[in-house]
Amino acid sequence: MTRAMRLLITGGCGFIGSNFIRRVLSQHPDWGVVNLDCLTYAGDERNLRDLDGDERYRFVHGDICDPTDVRLAIGEGVDAIVNFAAETHVDRSISSPASFLRTDVLGAHVLLEAARNLPVGRFVQISTDEVYGSVTRGRTPEDAPLAPRSPYAASKASADLLVQAYIATYGLRAVITRGSNTYGPYQHPEKLVPLFITNLIDRKPVPLYGDGLHEREWLHVDDHCRAIERVLLDGVPGEVYNVGPSDGCTNVEITRRLLGLLGLDDEKLIRHVPDRPGHDRRYALECSKVRALGWEPEVDLAKGLAKTVEWYRANEAWWRPIVEGEFAAYYRHQYSGLDAR
Ligand code: NAD
Ligand code: DAU
Repeated sequence: MTRAMRLLITGGCGFIGSNFIRRVLSQHPDWGVVNLDCLTYAGDERNLRDLDGDERYRFVHGDICDPTDVRLAIGEGVDAIVNFAAETHVDRSISSPASFLRTDVLGAHVLLEAARNLPVGRFVQISTDEVYGSVTRGRTPEDAPLAPRSPYAASKASADLLVQAYIATYGLRAVITRGSNTYGPYQHPEKLVPLFITNLIDRKPVPLYGDGLHEREWLHVDDHCRAIERVLLDGVPGEVYNVGPSDGCTNVEITRRLLGLLGLDDEKLIRHVPDRPGHDRRYALECSKVRALGWEPEVDLAKGLAKTVEWYRANEAWWRPIVEGEFAAYYRHQYSGLDAR
């Protein structure tokens, strides 16, 4: 049994944040959550509709870059801030980096200032394996040098450095998690897994960048959320924790798995399109620190992908308005030459 906690979750209307809020409120009936989210294209209040009327949950529509919004969300104080809020899509960071610097760096700074000056018990920065850059061989431990290569990864690495500076300078009780590629329910269809599933449900081709041999470590969102919860409760202040499943998979392999799960063993649906500029070839995390806290992944890739395909099949009412909205213009621009969605 853990003591009751009051959390400020930022970016809780996004993919991982909404799954995390649902998890902590179901696991800890006496916890309370304030969710601060400015609802960018990636945020969706529908992700937490099931919490409507739940007195333990409060939504604040606001911006982490605005100190007044942050103060309002913290109110009399919180036991922890868990910062999920970010611009998160590498391709969008390549076409338009400014919002990444604003939210991922300056927004993190506003939250850190609040954590240093207001009653905030602890700070959890949700970071990414992308801060280490492309990994040629072996696995990256937490003390490996940061070598980000996209504007997204550079923004996230900058925030990590700021958090570490606040730990060293002000003694902030902060921890950082660096998670690998995450998939599961409520993920915006701009990312590979939901993009490919939703295209394939409509029998449309899927755009594979370059030769498709880039390797990622796919982590189910339930496993990622359990790891963040573990680090929130038991992580040692000042430490960084990598979070990944410890086995990789190439993009072409994951695409074939999705084709199989949708009963479409038709390689013609795979379209090789021009590569992402600066595309990192491989990520591979060394995760013994988080495992030493008692966490290990529970959802294997085959089961996790099958569950995710089922979720997107069962929840067309969730994703169709997204792919038919602003995303349609983005898709036409990003994947010009492919059949329109
Ligand atoms: P997401 O894009 O689905 O959601 C981001 C959320 O942040 C949205 O609800 C959005 O409205 C909100 N937001 C954006 N700017 C904001 C601002 N200025 N103020 C308040 N809210 C704002 O992201 P996600 O995939 O759930 O990722 C969550 C976090 O996890 C991010 O920090 C990301 O870097 C990190 N991460 C993601 C993955 C992954 O594979 N998805 C893996 C590792 C780490
Ligand atoms: O590694 C963790 C990161 O994972 C997170 O920090 C990011 O927030 C999250 O967006 C994700 O970044 P990626 O760039 O790895 O995810 P994405 O789904 O965009 O791409 C996964 C891989 O698939 C990558 O190698 C690029 C490739 N890809 C992606 C898209 C969208 C394609 O081949 N075609 C595509 O259309």
